[in-house]
Amino acid sequence: MWLYNKKLQYPVDIKRKNLKMAKYLMSQYGGPDSEMSAAIRYLNQRYTMPDDKGKALLTDIGTEELAHLEIIASMINSLMKDATIDEIKEAGLGGFFAEHDNGLFPLNPEGVPFTTAYIETTGDFIADLESNMAAEQRARAVYEHLIDLTDDIDIIKPLSFLRQREVVHYQRFKELRNYYLNNKIQKKP
Ligand SMILES: [Fe+2]
Repeated sequence: MWLYNKKLQYPVDIKRKNLKMAKYLMSQYGGPDSEMSAAIRYLNQRYTMPDDKGKALLTDIGTEELAHLEIIASMINSLMKDATIDEIKEAGLGGFFAEHDNGLFPLNPEGVPFTTAYIETTGDFIADLESNMAAEQRARAVYEHLIDLTDDIDIIKPLSFLRQREVVHYQRFKELRNYYLNNKIQKKP
């Protein structure tokens, strides 16, 4: 079970509307390496980890990714707040508005909807952990691209926090992968 804390893991205090950044941030809401992909992937994979240590790590990180999804949702919502129709059209979000108004919906910035194909799970814990290490590196790279797209410090600060967490997740997955390999813990004896 989960206990909900009514606060964000990192504060979001965006003062300036920015529709284009809202659109770009959708990469981390509904894109292939989004927080949504990560959260669902890890919370699924925990069942096929070989021991409690692995199950605990996947649960921890999967839970944290849900908190990150909430930060991204809050940022997109703040960036789109009080947008006019002209501003929405100018940012290339007219099609989004037609179907979703200013509601959140998991798409990437090009409008490609979220798909479960992003949730890689093989049931082979070494393959899954190595896939997760790569996913964390891709998510880190996307955060760096997003930071490059703005000079608003109120956007950069939470993105920098999220980028740093991807680095930590990469390291924790790598440590677990190495622990299993070094101790010859295998799926099939
Ligand atoms: Fe992560």
